[in-house]
Amino acid sequence: MTRKVIRCDATAAWAALQEHEALVGEDFDLRQAFADDPARAQTLSLQAPHVFADLSKNLIDARTQALLLALARDCEFEAQRDALFAGEAINNTEDRAVMHWLLRAPANGAGASARPEAADVQATLQAMLAYAERVRADHTITDVVNIGIGGSDLGPQMAVKALAAHVAPGKHFHFVSNVDGHELDAVLKGLAPEHTLFLIASKTFTTAETMANAHSARRWYQQSGGTDVAGHFAALTTNVAAARDFGIDTTFGFWDWVGGRYSMWSAIGLPIALAIGAEGFRAFLAGAHAMDEHFRTEPLARNLPVQLGLLDVWYRNFKGFGSRSIAPYHAQLSRLPAYLQQLEMESNGKRVDRAGRPLAVDTSPVLWGEPGTNGQHAYFQMLHQGSDVVPLEFIAVREAEHTLDGHQPKLLANAIAQAQALMVGKADEGGHKNFPGNRPSTFFVLDRLTPETLGAFIAMYEHRVFTSGAIWGINSFDQWGVELGKVLARDIEPRLASGDVAGLDPSTAALVQRLGHKA
Ligand code: F6P
Repeated sequence: MTRKVIRCDATAAWAALQEHEALVGEDFDLRQAFADDPARAQTLSLQAPHVFADLSKNLIDARTQALLLALARDCEFEAQRDALFAGEAINNTEDRAVMHWLLRAPANGAGASARPEAADVQATLQAMLAYAERVRADHTITDVVNIGIGGSDLGPQMAVKALAAHVAPGKHFHFVSNVDGHELDAVLKGLAPEHTLFLIASKTFTTAETMANAHSARRWYQQSGGTDVAGHFAALTTNVAAARDFGIDTTFGFWDWVGGRYSMWSAIGLPIALAIGAEGFRAFLAGAHAMDEHFRTEPLARNLPVQLGLLDVWYRNFKGFGSRSIAPYHAQLSRLPAYLQQLEMESNGKRVDRAGRPLAVDTSPVLWGEPGTNGQHAYFQMLHQGSDVVPLEFIAVREAEHTLDGHQPKLLANAIAQAQALMVGKADEGGHKNFPGNRPSTFFVLDRLTPETLGAFIAMYEHRVFTSGAIWGINSFDQWGVELGKVLARDIEPRLASGDVAGLDPSTAALVQRLGHKA
């Protein structure tokens, strides 16, 4: 049954927030806010498990925060959060529960032991980790190729890169997602079949790109002399029957209550377990679980994911900011923006509420970004002096995993300085050299980048996306918007060979004729 949708824009708190913005919005100045309250950096900072967040350089004051909490109350946010952890079918358009949190709950923990699914989760985890340890010990396997796309690619790819310092030497990880054969071709060129393990990662085991790449990989394996498909292919999927039909014996399953973009904690995380080992993967889950508990139990005023989600609503709906930029000051987090794009934009890129009625409020912002300091020499110009205000998120890691002299202080100084420059600006020279300042940012600090801290950081983000989605009254767990293009591509593909453009609009017909093979 669909929980009654509360329209956020019909609540008393929404009206009060509009009034508050009309009253102080334009005049709010971060420099003045710090002058008025020198303790602002402390009062607007939060420490959650493994993640410290300085929210003080955001365009909010105590009243904004109080009204946002009132909005959460008016939207019955806590009941919605509790429904997530109670395993209710909150993905109402697919009639599914949403329980990625169960994948990281300890077997004997309160929430997990109450769920009938927990035993299956633990058995699969144990089998997958035992397999990971066997492959890690098998020195004939030097290369692991993960074939998957979207949620079956972005998380493992991001995490394996992020945790490079923890990856056992002697194994190389490759990620192939695109149906563009250039990607698979480039990877296969450096491989030998007897030394390669292919992981076919697909929740549905029907995704066109993944199936095309899986078939090509098997063909390559056999044509280059490989004779043991069963030993060199494993499948990570909810559709174990389809994987068996493909000829794969080694399969690790998961369940329809794990969304693709929330699946890194399931069998889809096998590349991560292969990279950092069973103990490392358990630490990754433990970090995420610590954040789950923080989100589930901490009062909303000190609850980091909740505060971030409410801030997102404030910026999107009351300040009118259409995008948010992610700046990880850690080169190994280069895939984090892409990962977060799917997490947030596929979850909250919706224009109807859970009951299917059009919304009158804006939803997901555009997320984008690159590691610092690279972004500074590319698009930070626009962040400092452009006509749009783009809230920026810095992610700094205190301790480096390398020993190269002098780099880490330079990197961290740049992160701090950019946040400072965005806020303080510079008015002593006019015109082109003027920086308006008062530009908002959030500053995250991790002590180190480890499996545990990465797990906590990602879980924080998941719950933040949940929070803004819950306020907007949308279903953050379906993705119908990806379907139309898939269907149309199936229709167009044979037309490229046949040249048949009957029934197509003139623009599409012209492109089919230009790109098709028929003269
Ligand atoms: O097309 C979107 C999508 O369904 C994503 O939500 C998902 O992560 C991706 O495709 C891959 O799906 P699958 O894991 O079933 O191959």
